[in-house]
Amino acid sequence: MCGIIGIASNKPVSVNIINSLKKLEYRGYDSAGIATLSDGFINEKKCSGRVDELEKILFKTPSNGNIGIGHVRWATHGTPSTINAHPHSTEEVSVVHNGIIENSDELKKKLENRGLAFKSQTDTEVITLLITEALKESNPLNAVFTTIQKLKGSFALGIIFKNFSNIIIGARRGSPLAVGYSEQENFLGSDSYALKSMTNKISYLDDGELCVLTKDRVDFYDTEQKKINKKIHLVSDEDNTSNKGSYKNFMSKEIFEQPIAAKKCISEYIDSLKKDINIYNFPIDPKLINKIILVGCGTAYHSCLVAKYWFEELTNVEVEIDIASEFRYRKIKFNKKNLYIFVSQSGETADTAAALDICKKNNVKTCSIVNVVESTIARNADWVLPIHVGPEIGVASTKAFLGQLIVLYILSLKISSLRNNISSDFYSLSIENLKKIPEKLKKCLETETNIQLMAKEFLKAKGSMFLGRGSSFPIALEGALKLKELSYLHAEGYPAGEMKHGPLALIEEGLPVIVIAPKDKYFEKTLSNMQEVIARGGKIFFITDNKKSLISENIRSGIRVPFLGDLLSPIMLTIPLQLLAYHVALLKGCDIDKPRNLAKSVTVE
Ligand code: G6P
Repeated sequence: MCGIIGIASNKPVSVNIINSLKKLEYRGYDSAGIATLSDGFINEKKCSGRVDELEKILFKTPSNGNIGIGHVRWATHGTPSTINAHPHSTEEVSVVHNGIIENSDELKKKLENRGLAFKSQTDTEVITLLITEALKESNPLNAVFTTIQKLKGSFALGIIFKNFSNIIIGARRGSPLAVGYSEQENFLGSDSYALKSMTNKISYLDDGELCVLTKDRVDFYDTEQKKINKKIHLVSDEDNTSNKGSYKNFMSKEIFEQPIAAKKCISEYIDSLKKDINIYNFPIDPKLINKIILVGCGTAYHSCLVAKYWFEELTNVEVEIDIASEFRYRKIKFNKKNLYIFVSQSGETADTAAALDICKKNNVKTCSIVNVVESTIARNADWVLPIHVGPEIGVASTKAFLGQLIVLYILSLKISSLRNNISSDFYSLSIENLKKIPEKLKKCLETETNIQLMAKEFLKAKGSMFLGRGSSFPIALEGALKLKELSYLHAEGYPAGEMKHGPLALIEEGLPVIVIAPKDKYFEKTLSNMQEVIARGGKIFFITDNKKSLISENIRSGIRVPFLGDLLSPIMLTIPLQLLAYHVALLKGCDIDKPRNLAKSVTVE
């Protein structure tokens, strides 16, 4: 998946294209490219690596032109290299693409049989060649129409033409595409976020639609090639993302701003005067909800896993959880009395968006829990609960996970109160407890010094295990995921009680094992599981909120976080695990904000 930008202007566009590409790097950062139209030619420049590299190239040999397209890539077809970087151009046409063309091999063969040669290993180049061919007989709009009819799979496209030097054509199917408006300038972008520094007026293309941009107008077309009007949304122009202040990287900033992020999120949902939760307009009467289905990917999926424990503990609603890439292909028995909740920081994750679409097609009620309120998932769901934690830039999610947990906990409390599953006293007490989260998080962050010492012990490790029971099991999964993502060290998260059914075979002398054991109903049982690991030589790092002494000859090191009750312990216990992954990665010299092979927003399957 990749990021796309296009600008049609009355002034040179390359600097703004580069600036927008920097913002889009969260979608991919293995190569970058730009094409502008100048002096009657398509001027294409591209490189492997980051946008900074492309900027250096442009610094040496500037690209002129008032119209242009740019791209950041996350490789799907073909290695990350200069030749495979977008744009893909012929003399006539230049194309940037996000998505996957599933029938590219078949189309490529047909084109090769007609004597056409390919330069790259990408699926995108077939689009360039098909449009170039079609242009011999038709105008640009028709050429793009004919071409996209031949494509199977998903795409968002930005296209410029040598002989039609005032237009950019955009087209989408499956992958998101936005249009921005300004005086004497119009923009095409993968999302509003990339366009925010240039405009706050945005329209979103729907599936199958096309747009033609010039510097002073934008025309939209539906799947039948009929002209259509699109709604213009005013998006918030808040853009506090480019500044990491005194922090070394965005991830440490995002970890340490969690107390503030939590405060903001909680204050959006808590009415302190009425001692109530401000969640209204349920798409289904909460008393009539039959089942809740929670769906997400990666870290967002882990927040769904934690929420299952909360909904089960607090309400009498049945709960199911699913990974979006599995949900979208399963034979689901949809039920109109079920509420389908989609959790996604970016709101653009392709699998989650597709899972939501399937629910919509089956006419069931959907809710999205997102950080980006202008996102595809937010726009497509019946009901949106934003997490209000501010933009998250580090690829490994931290404060967004916290926000997801808080919103899911608040939602479970509200539903349980509306269904009379909990007493009003418990409800009020829980609301009071929620308000304590920001201060307690500050205390959790004070564990950093101890964690730094702990991190050193992971440097020579061949792998590691994270164990927990109950709601600490998904926290173990999240801790393991963070360590994998950031430090490239193998890490497994496991329910502590499941160790004896296989994973215990992995334990050998000195293997680091992180045991997450809050003072809940599982505490003693987790300690027993820990003994099984100790007996086989595992090196224990113990994370708890239990006030009892942590000192034991068998525990290598212990971290204590504040106790805030059983239910909220997952929120507290997450912080040391984020810090651990961060410090191991820092010691190993890894790229903290942009780990290898990953992207912040995964907009392909
Ligand atoms: C990517 C990111 C993860 C994230 C997942 C889901 O894999 O690297 O950090 O958890 O996508 O993203 P979403 O935006 O849907 O929460």
